[in-house]
Amino acid sequence: MIFETKAKDGLGRIAKLSINGKNVETPCLMPVINPNLPLVTPKEMKKLFKTDIIITNSYILYKSFNVENVHKFLDFDGVIATDSGSFQLMQYGDIDITNKEIIEYQNKIGVDIATFLDIPTKPYVPYEKAKRDLETTIERGEEARMLREGELNGTIQGSNYLDLRKYASLRMSLYDFDIYPIGAVVPLLMKYDFSQLAEIILTCKKYLPINKPVHLFGAGHPLTFALAVLLGCDLFDSAAYALYANDDRYLTAYGTKNLNEMKYLPCSCPICSQYTLEELKASEEKTKLLALHNLYATYGEIKKIKESIHENSLWNFVESRIRNHPRLYYAYKKIKKYTDFISTIDPFIKKTSLFYTGEETKMRPLVTETKKRLKRVSKKKDMSNPVFKYPKALSFTFPFNIETDMDSDFDSDVESLETIFDYQFGRKTGKKFLKETTVKKSKTNRIRYIYRKDLLATLRARDNLFTLTSEGAKRLHKILKYPHYRVMASEEAVPFILEGRDLLSKFAVSWDTGLRAYEEVLVIDPNDSLLGAGTLMLSPIELEYFERGVAVKMRTAVKL
Ligand code: GUN
Ligand code: ZN
Repeated sequence: MIFETKAKDGLGRIAKLSINGKNVETPCLMPVINPNLPLVTPKEMKKLFKTDIIITNSYILYKSFNVENVHKFLDFDGVIATDSGSFQLMQYGDIDITNKEIIEYQNKIGVDIATFLDIPTKPYVPYEKAKRDLETTIERGEEARMLREGELNGTIQGSNYLDLRKYASLRMSLYDFDIYPIGAVVPLLMKYDFSQLAEIILTCKKYLPINKPVHLFGAGHPLTFALAVLLGCDLFDSAAYALYANDDRYLTAYGTKNLNEMKYLPCSCPICSQYTLEELKASEEKTKLLALHNLYATYGEIKKIKESIHENSLWNFVESRIRNHPRLYYAYKKIKKYTDFISTIDPFIKKTSLFYTGEETKMRPLVTETKKRLKRVSKKKDMSNPVFKYPKALSFTFPFNIETDMDSDFDSDVESLETIFDYQFGRKTGKKFLKETTVKKSKTNRIRYIYRKDLLATLRARDNLFTLTSEGAKRLHKILKYPHYRVMASEEAVPFILEGRDLLSKFAVSWDTGLRAYEEVLVIDPNDSLLGAGTLMLSPIELEYFERGVAVKMRTAVKL
């Protein structure tokens, strides 16, 4: 399995997941295919939604069908995951198959991602029961790891007890599962207990390996997707599109509607565009049409989330989504307890400015982190907006340039450059870097270019932070002592970097642990000789875990 991060925001990420030579981009939805009742076939899904991963139930296949190969049986050549019958165990209390049998069956029918027979312990059962169940789940996980030929889910249980979720995450990490689903959250989703859900996700994420995908098991309602992705979930499975359609329920990212109480179809998917509500209700194919709308709504939300990760506006997007239900709003506030953890992974620089959407914007981990970093700057904090008190010099710099009802009329001057530089690279670095330099302004009359004979740095228009040329990188390298703002490349990567290639994560050997994702950094060789400068694409924790992907997207390489 390959799992490689391409873009990040919050704990969310766009990543390439590759299994048995088949690629899927996460975050993504796995529609649940019920072999007894295929309302929409995998083939139709592929055609309509470009579905490249589905999930079905190996226990149902085992009981009721004679399957030789699951891909042939379902007529689908994408990634097929299977559940194990654990959910039936939770619903009916008992099933007649062992962990060993269900794993061997999944091996036999050629599934891409298998699941062992974990025990989904419901929330709010007595602690002792949750603990006993969890020990059984972990034993079965260990057994399955040995029997499984191929990718395997390592489901995390522990009921609502956060110490058990932590213990489960740490223990299961030892067996190196391919994907870590968070289990037994369906009862929380049904009750809209999103606060408990948020705490469970954050606890698991904190103790699971960051380089493995996390699946929120049984979560298929688009209402919770944005928050769940922000908190680090990569995969969702939806039976909801079909279950809800059977009950005349219409899914939207802002809640569930009942067809019989609606007057309009408030959506622009092909179904809702072609049919009026009356026509839909009268159609013989009503359930199928409704299932299709539900899938359009569900896939549509995933695409919006991905676009927000791409533009680093996921926090802004989530703060709009949490207003769709008060329970989501309160769940969002749980992030406060996890600020330190989230800060270590959340990118510190974003392509989109920070939107002030209300009081809770101040709770973002980035805000706490920014206030810490302001200690680097000695200038008086003579300006303020609803989130920050800051020196005037930083008026156009991210994240102080927040979107509020105020317009800035500030013109950066040479003096303000020093403050921006100190904020970005450290106390008293600006004076040294800017000594004997000259500046050039942009057409909009803002300082944009810093020269000392050669161009040293550019103040980027969108966030008024510095990007370095190779001359600038050399100057900064002299000013900052090792290991500050450095990422060290291994000896074998040196020729590639000098050729202008990116530094890959597997060749990054050490780094300044105080760095944050998307900062401008120096790349050095093992003797601290400068190789170039670029954008750090991962957080220090991710650099440690990820074997694949780009660590530093190089802007420039020095000429030796
Ligand atoms: N589907 C929904 N929740 C769960 C769970 O906790 N375990 C398994 N195996 N499947 C699920
Ligand atoms: Zn629709």
